[in-house]
Amino acid sequence: MEKTKVIIDCDPGIDDSLAIMLALKSKELDVIGITIVCGNSPVEMGFENAKKILKQMNRLDVPVFIGEDRPLCRAYVNALDTHGEDGLGESFLPKVDGYEQEMSAVDFLTLTLKRKKVSVIALGPMTNLARLIQKDLDAFCNIDKLVSMGGTFKSHGNCSPVAEYNYWCDPDAAALVYKTLHENSMRIHMIGLDVTRKIVLTPTILEYICRLNPKMGDFIKKITKFYFDFHWQWEHIIGCVINDPLAVAYFIDQSICSGFDSFVEIETQGISLGQSVVDSMNFYRKEPNATVLTEVDTFRFFQMFLSRLLDLEPEKLDILKDIL
Ligand code: RIB
Ligand code: CA
Repeated sequence: MEKTKVIIDCDPGIDDSLAIMLALKSKELDVIGITIVCGNSPVEMGFENAKKILKQMNRLDVPVFIGEDRPLCRAYVNALDTHGEDGLGESFLPKVDGYEQEMSAVDFLTLTLKRKKVSVIALGPMTNLARLIQKDLDAFCNIDKLVSMGGTFKSHGNCSPVAEYNYWCDPDAAALVYKTLHENSMRIHMIGLDVTRKIVLTPTILEYICRLNPKMGDFIKKITKFYFDFHWQWEHIIGCVINDPLAVAYFIDQSICSGFDSFVEIETQGISLGQSVVDSMNFYRKEPNATVLTEVDTFRFFQMFLSRLLDLEPEKLDILKDIL
């Protein structure tokens, strides 16, 4: 099977880390690079965290590039309150040396996309992608499939009543990406909170992971404990919403989610700043620039996620039907 070449643009980040792990364990994907953007963690911290995950997965062959350290216009607001002071659930994993930077993330995206069509899975604020548009529109338009964890249609926001963090952290970048997609008849697949909120890693699932693969279970427990505490404190949820891995799972198998095509615009100011305004009723009579995902088969997600991370045949996870 020919692998699909993909660049993961992310802000690790606990759930970004789980997403990278899933991508690396998926035979369908050739992760040709990881580009880091400021978001959950400051960009240097995200860079260090990405290397820690690659070391854990024994994949230090994957290049990592440092990207934008602040949003296009707004002041940068991190999410370390959610991801811990080290951005990785206060697991305080040892620093991984190496990876002298030959080029920036935006230069890597530009050079790669000028040469060939490559897909991008965007798991953080869209600042790197916006800078790519400003630097070389043709390169941006050479993105094959673009899947973004971000935004929300009908589910409430997680940074304001209406805004999801990735698009709220840099609304100008998200707005430029969506505007450019529309102007160039391109589509983004928007994996928003409508579907990711249904992906909850619960203590029961975590215990099950630890029984099936103690080594991997221990690592996942180490980087998610802080996230569990955060979710109980702020959303009174027992478990943690793992947003980003769903974007990877959907990239691999689009039948895991369903939704509809729509024109989407991102608000860049005022009380609704960062809101993904989904014109589901086509008031604006504009060509769609997005596939907005609204339903997810939670069992099939966890079956893929766990079978790959735990190196198990999918059938071994049928018990998930009883605990999801
Ligand atoms: O709103 C959730 C998103 O913001 C996830 O990608 C999380 O990692 C943060 O980047
Ligand atoms: Ca993220």
